[in-house]
Amino acid sequence: MTVGAVRCATVLGIETSCDETAAAVVDDGATVRSSVVSSQVDVHAAYGGVVPELAGRAHVELLTEVVADALSQAGVAGPQLGAVAATVGPGLIGSLLVGVAEAKALCLAWDLPFVGVNHLEGHLFAALLDHPDPGWPVVVLLVSGGHTLLVSMQGPGRYRLLGQTLDDAAGEAFDKVARFLGLGYPGGPAIEHAARRGDATAFAFPRALRDEGLDFSFSGLKTAVVRAVRARPDARDDDVAASFQQAVVDVLVAKTMRAAELTSARGVCLGGGVAANGPLRDALAEAAAARGLPALLPSRAMCTDNAAMVAAAGWWQLAHLGPTGLDAGAVPDLRLPLLA
Ligand code: KG4
Ligand code: ZN
Repeated sequence: MTVGAVRCATVLGIETSCDETAAAVVDDGATVRSSVVSSQVDVHAAYGGVVPELAGRAHVELLTEVVADALSQAGVAGPQLGAVAATVGPGLIGSLLVGVAEAKALCLAWDLPFVGVNHLEGHLFAALLDHPDPGWPVVVLLVSGGHTLLVSMQGPGRYRLLGQTLDDAAGEAFDKVARFLGLGYPGGPAIEHAARRGDATAFAFPRALRDEGLDFSFSGLKTAVVRAVRARPDARDDDVAASFQQAVVDVLVAKTMRAAELTSARGVCLGGGVAANGPLRDALAEAAAARGLPALLPSRAMCTDNAAMVAAAGWWQLAHLGPTGLDAGAVPDLRLPLLA
C-alpha cells in the first residue's frame, strides 16, 4: 500500500507499555509475519506485581534482541520496512520511553516514518487482525490490567465510549484477588487455572451494577472476597476463585450484550488481557449466539499485550492520519481518542 510518497505495507510494531517486551512485523495491518513477546513475569513474580523500575530496565535489556528476532522471523531487513510504530501511552513512563526511543532511533537509521500508537487503540485493532471486515458498528469490551471500557467502534479510528469502570479495572480485580489468595502473579491466568477445579456456586459474590447502566465497579467484589474468606477460613481457594471469576464474567457479559442492544451493534468483540479468559470468551460467544450476533474474539495471544496489534493500529494510523513527529513524547495517561 502506498500513501502519498510513503510506502507503508510492512510495519514493525514495538510494545513496551508495561511488563511485556514485544516486537512484530505485520503486512497491510492484517497479515502477521512475526510476533515476538518476551514476558517479564519472572522478574516481577517475586514482588507479586509489576515493579516499574525493574520493568523499564528489563525492556532496555531485552528490546534490541526482541526486535532483531521479529525482523529475522519475518525475513525482513529494517530498510525494507514501510514504518516503525511504537506504543506511546498509556502505560508506565519508564517502560514507554524505552520503546519510543528505540522506534525513533530505528526510523532515523532506516529513514522511515515513525507512528506513535495508543495502546488502547492497539487492543481494539487486535480483533481486526482475525476479523478484518466486521459489519460496523461493533461493541468492544476492552478489559485489561489498567482499563475496563465498553466502546462502540463504528470503524477504525471511530470510537464512542459507552461505559467504564468507576474504580478497579477487571484485570486489577483478578490480580488483587489472586494475590490475596496467594495464587501468584499474574493473577488472571492463576485464577482461571484454580477456578477449573472449583465450584462457581460456592459463594454468592455481588454482581455490582449488573442491571444498571453501562459502567462497572469491581472494588466491592474484591472486598466481598476478602470478607468471605475471613468468615470461612476453611474455604477452598479453588471455590473462591471459581465464584469470583463467575461474578466478573456475569457482569462483563451482561453489560456487553446490553451495550450491543442499545447501539444496534452488528457484532461484539473482546480486547485486552482479561479477554484471554476462557470462561469469559465462552460466555460471551454463547450470549452473542443467542441474539444471532457474531462474537469476534481475537486469539488469546492477541488479547494480552503484543506488538502485532500496535503494528496493525500504526499501519491504519499512518495511512489515514500520517506519521507522528519525532518530537512527540510518551504520554503515561493517554486516553482513547473519541468521536466528538
Ligand atoms: O492487556 P494486558 O496484557 O496488559 C495491560 O494493558 O494491562 O492485561 C493484563 C491483565 C492482567 O490484569 C492479567 O491478570 C489479566 O490481564 N489476564 C487475565 C488472563 N490473562 C491475563 N485475566 C483473566 N483471565 C486470564 N486468562
Ligand atoms: Zn494492554
